[in-house]
Amino acid sequence: MSTEIRLAGVIGDPIAHSKSPALHGHWLARYGIPGHYVPLKIARKDLKKTLRALPRMGFSGVNVTIPHKEHVLSFADSVTDRAALIGAANTLTFSANGQLQADNTDGVGFLANLYQNAPDWRADAGPALVLGAGGASRAVVSALLGDGAPQVFLVNRTRVRGETLREKLGARVKVMDWAHIPDLLPDISCLVNTTSLGMEGGQPLQIDLSDLRPTTLVTDIVYTPLQTGLLQQAAELGCPTVDGLGMLLHQAAPGFERWFGRKPDVDGDLRQAVLSA
Ligand code: ATR
Repeated sequence: MSTEIRLAGVIGDPIAHSKSPALHGHWLARYGIPGHYVPLKIARKDLKKTLRALPRMGFSGVNVTIPHKEHVLSFADSVTDRAALIGAANTLTFSANGQLQADNTDGVGFLANLYQNAPDWRADAGPALVLGAGGASRAVVSALLGDGAPQVFLVNRTRVRGETLREKLGARVKVMDWAHIPDLLPDISCLVNTTSLGMEGGQPLQIDLSDLRPTTLVTDIVYTPLQTGLLQQAAELGCPTVDGLGMLLHQAAPGFERWFGRKPDVDGDLRQAVLSA
């Protein structure tokens, strides 16, 4: 790598809450890389011209967060298959001539977190039950299917959103009602919450997990608090659990490697740096 100062960042609106600057900042400092990663508050009306300007300003790429994840696809010169499938991008890379490649690393980040923290679990071991049908769910469901989950049961408050997701992601997705959850629990190899239920200050996620097998992996993409009610209940039943912070850490790694030229470690030090940011 040359000694040129590399630039990357995260675009969103609002952006002040983003953990990404602390995360990438930790890696830059750890590896002594001369570069900066900055939060950029960009209004939707300014998105297109910002994406044209950033490569000219020397940026190698940016992460994308709410509310731009879907919209950026229409400005990309190329879109990876997984971003197209998910219908959203979280990682943009600018080529030397300013071309914009849009990728989505949420799904691989989700899986990498599980494989790191529950090494005995495999996506192809059995059916999964996914709660929620928003943007995060699309990434999670497509990742589970891509890694061989034989079936993904999908439960969402608004059933039609689940149906739309099934149409896009295929017949291994089966849309069920909340009322069916107790019948599904004994047969699943993993349970994933992708809804915002259980988040600090919000509504709780109320499900009785007693019928889960003790080998069923339970994970939550909510990471405030780290130990959600869902994870706590699962842990009390002896099930393996993985919290959602690792997904945030892992989804960041491919972008960092592309922009700053080094594959970063996702470990306890990084986790601590993000938690204390
Ligand atoms: P994200 O991109 O983070 O997934 P989203 O697209 O807003 O965010 O999706 C939020 C998910 O949480 C949805 O599945 C939503 O259910 P609906 O599709 O019915 O809106 C779910 N969710 C949010 N609040 C909920 C609540 N009070 N009860 C049940 N589900 C809820």
